[in-house]
Amino acid sequence: MENNLNLIKMSNILLINQRINKFDSEIIISGDKSLSIRWILLASQAIGKSKAYNLLMSEDVFAALNAVKKLGIKVLIRKSHCEIFGNGINGFKYKNGLVINAKNSGTLGRLILGLLIKSPKKINIIGDKSLSKRDFSRVTIPLEKFGAKFYYKTKNKLPLSILGSQLSKGINYIENKGSAQCKSSIMLASLNSSGTTLIKAKKSRNHSELLFKYLKIPIKIKKTKKYDFISIKKPKTINAFNYQIPGDISSSAFFIVLTMLTNNSKLLIKDVNINPSRTGVITILKKMGAKISLKNKKNYRGEKISDILIQSSKNLKGINCPSELNSCAIDEFLIIFLAAAKARGTSYFKDISELNQKESPRLNWGSKILNKMGIKTALTKNSIKIYGQPNLEITKPIIIKDYLKDHRVFMMSVIAALTCGGEWRIHNKDSINTSFPSFLKTIKNISNKSL
Ligand code: S3P
Repeated sequence: MENNLNLIKMSNILLINQRINKFDSEIIISGDKSLSIRWILLASQAIGKSKAYNLLMSEDVFAALNAVKKLGIKVLIRKSHCEIFGNGINGFKYKNGLVINAKNSGTLGRLILGLLIKSPKKINIIGDKSLSKRDFSRVTIPLEKFGAKFYYKTKNKLPLSILGSQLSKGINYIENKGSAQCKSSIMLASLNSSGTTLIKAKKSRNHSELLFKYLKIPIKIKKTKKYDFISIKKPKTINAFNYQIPGDISSSAFFIVLTMLTNNSKLLIKDVNINPSRTGVITILKKMGAKISLKNKKNYRGEKISDILIQSSKNLKGINCPSELNSCAIDEFLIIFLAAAKARGTSYFKDISELNQKESPRLNWGSKILNKMGIKTALTKNSIKIYGQPNLEITKPIIIKDYLKDHRVFMMSVIAALTCGGEWRIHNKDSINTSFPSFLKTIKNISNKSL
């Protein structure tokens, strides 16, 4: 029994049968996953030693470090930082029959293909059960235009092999899903292709663009309301660079909602990346009545960083969520659904079929978990209505399992258990290692400091 919180570990199952007590605390959240993986991939293309501080130490990021190691890049993990010794653009060296395991990471699996479009030998990409269910044609179709060839055993799914082409030339590409992974994969391929690559991309997170600018890679961007028009010329070289990774807003989101839904509580999360292409969660929750404010704002190499102050937020109201916010909240919908479950009135989220393309079919899982809690939902392939119950009392025991170890399904379930009560058995505790290994430790630290 913990101080205020009963997190009983049974092998890989987490039992929670008590709400969290009120708290007033300050936390630091581990490094942003998107930026951590992008730093690794870009540092591998730079010349010489690059360093990253606060690199996320999670399985997705270790998979990215292992991938570049297998491609002949030296990686050193020091106490305070990580070092990568790049061999320049297209400087990978590897043997025949190379296998790269992207494990659970769609970002790694899709982005690294962009760096391999000139590979003279076939490289095999594999992934775990969840990643092997996800579509890869969304990147291999445009990458074929650079001249690369792809071989699938099962149509559009991992495992796949890539054989590059020495003649790769810039392409024209329209990215219509609002997928930063697709956009970034093509951007990385442009580093290795003669001429100019032109991308018309529906709005999505823009970390790759900001890093390209910072690295002085010739990139021009014209923004319209819905699309960004990006043009990239092959750079001569990329210089090694050091980077301080800010905290991950996607991980912070679970603590934002934990605080909102716990009475008389307050939390300060330090140094979080609040890039506007990622802050849909804050906009949506504030529209629902959440008490969230941003303090101590800073700029860092094009990224925006700030502390986030959250207070208990009673009287949340349902939202008809504008779909323009979807791409900047894409990883946060599960936890937003939980806030909607505790809000007064009905919430409606539309045009979100992409959620079913994530580590698990997340739209379906979000609905399933709310239903188990006793919340009514109306689910279609690309929308969900949630009938909120501010005074929800969970009466039946809840078991969460067989969810493809989706880290965000696990974390949503934990926050639901800690804020709505009931008896929860949440399987596959190890799923959090994907993005946020210190998730449970951070909860315990907060609750031990309870008032
Ligand atoms: C990511 C982009 C998003 C997001 C994923 C990380 C990235 O995926 O869901 O967790 O780092 O580019 P899509 O590009 O498929 O929307």
